[in-house]
Amino acid sequence: MAELIRHDLVIVGGGAAGLRAAIAAVEADPDITVALVSKVYPMRSHTVSAEGGAAAVAREDDSLEMHAYDTVKGSDFLGDQDVIQYFVEQAPRELTQLEHWGCPWSRNEDGTVSTRAFGGMTTKRTWYATDKVGFHLLHSLFQASMQFDRIVRYDEIFVSKLLVDGGVCRGVAGLEVRTGEMKAIVGGAVILTTGGAGKAWPFTTNGNIKTGDGMALAYREGVPLKDMEFVQYHPTGLPGTGILITEATRGEGGYLINSDGERFLTTRDYGVGSKAELGPRDMISRAIVQEIAAGRGIEGAHGQFVHLDLRHLGEEKIDTRLPFVRLLGRTYVGVDPVHEPIPIRPVLHYMMGGVDTDIDGATDLPGLYAAGEVACVSMNGANRLGSNSLTECLVFGARSGQHALGFVKGSDAGSDAALSAQADEEGGRLEALRGKKGSETIAGLRQELHDTMEAGMGVYREQGGMAKTVQDVQQLKARYADLGLADQSKVFNTELVAALELRNLLDVAEANSIAGLQRKESRGAHACSDYPTRNDAEYLHHSLVYFNEGGEGRYDKKDVTLGRWEPEERKY
Ligand code: FUM
Repeated sequence: MAELIRHDLVIVGGGAAGLRAAIAAVEADPDITVALVSKVYPMRSHTVSAEGGAAAVAREDDSLEMHAYDTVKGSDFLGDQDVIQYFVEQAPRELTQLEHWGCPWSRNEDGTVSTRAFGGMTTKRTWYATDKVGFHLLHSLFQASMQFDRIVRYDEIFVSKLLVDGGVCRGVAGLEVRTGEMKAIVGGAVILTTGGAGKAWPFTTNGNIKTGDGMALAYREGVPLKDMEFVQYHPTGLPGTGILITEATRGEGGYLINSDGERFLTTRDYGVGSKAELGPRDMISRAIVQEIAAGRGIEGAHGQFVHLDLRHLGEEKIDTRLPFVRLLGRTYVGVDPVHEPIPIRPVLHYMMGGVDTDIDGATDLPGLYAAGEVACVSMNGANRLGSNSLTECLVFGARSGQHALGFVKGSDAGSDAALSAQADEEGGRLEALRGKKGSETIAGLRQELHDTMEAGMGVYREQGGMAKTVQDVQQLKARYADLGLADQSKVFNTELVAALELRNLLDVAEANSIAGLQRKESRGAHACSDYPTRNDAEYLHHSLVYFNEGGEGRYDKKDVTLGRWEPEERKY
């Protein structure tokens, strides 16, 4: 029988949301211990790659009301307004707290925190630390977490199963990658903070680790995934690699230009009005796709692109505000942005959808919570504003930590025998997968997944394409049963990890495409060519997709929480 490692609370994921949840929980109760389980070392979590900044009201020309309204409008009125209100209220406190933990926010001459412009925001409200915000933010959180020896880290454990007993989530079973042993880590509640699933697409800013693990874990236990049709394309990724060129480039004054050298966001009507390059991401990504379709793209080794021009900003500004962008340009496309424009194209960046939670991070499964990109607390609706997500990880990471702790205090420990038996069963499943004979390959299935997601779930979608993607993903899921693995070893069997990640991506991709097919309107990042306008009468609702073993996921709807702002035409 698997030995149970017991803590009060189990957190899966060591990025911003996970670390913040862990700190909130141990600060709230001096007697508890928290297991922080991650498939990587926390400083390798994807948070580290964030560049441009984190949003919170800081200036006199700004207000909580303006931040809330910008977020509601950016969400195309699908964000829950109670959630957004809580978010904007907590945001300044969270970013100040982070400074106290050591985050070196860039300053103005007078010593106040400097803020920069970001897309869809009315004023400069994005706090930054040059263009390496993720690194500094994650480092500060990680170091703050190390003050607490009651946060016990389990690094490089790949959680492959939630342990549920008596209808309550009480822990996780995970593969210790270093040894190949199955670990069972249990507690009174579990919080998922594992990030998104961008690796289902071929061109993405997401690191290799973003394979939808937490979403798939919850989905397979019957928790619905919410608003999965809304995936965000960031307008400025490098062709080929998909590496992020931060929106801060445009916040600092950069232009987008086509093959004619035309600043198309100012000369053509793409709905962004005078915001131009500081329009929201969904609209700017569509504008780039339309420019390319109209023959005003530039041909490159990885397809068509347009240019991001920073030359007019000058070397000093680029070096002080955007040093990482200069490094990325030189290293990955051989372009020095001081002297040449950078080739860019829209790339998959973020999921607005995720595990359905309430404002406390609680899911439908008692004892299971989620926060950060893995969750859909319904803050971002149909389109997230750039720089809201790091702050979201902090605000809702902290809230879920506190509320999960409340749940822990009211719950019992469950049956050790039942939890142990589940972990053993999961260990047996992984054992059978290791070195298993079969005719399908991870690379082959993953390539086909990429092809169908790019074709059916791109910046623009249409019903036929999405229907085909649903069918393709179903077939890929069936073919996964015949996956063949070559590596028999137990120690650092990364092939086995990749197989588990692929299963997660397939399950999440199923939810993305089913939700996309059901939404017969265009809203935010879901631009459906057959239904080009927003249809509030029929579609002002969240979407839910439920896992259906052996069949296609089941679809349902959930009300949007409106508030002071009634839906109106989204114009800038
Ligand atoms: O462009 C960026 O720096 C990304 C920021 C974000 O997604 O919030």
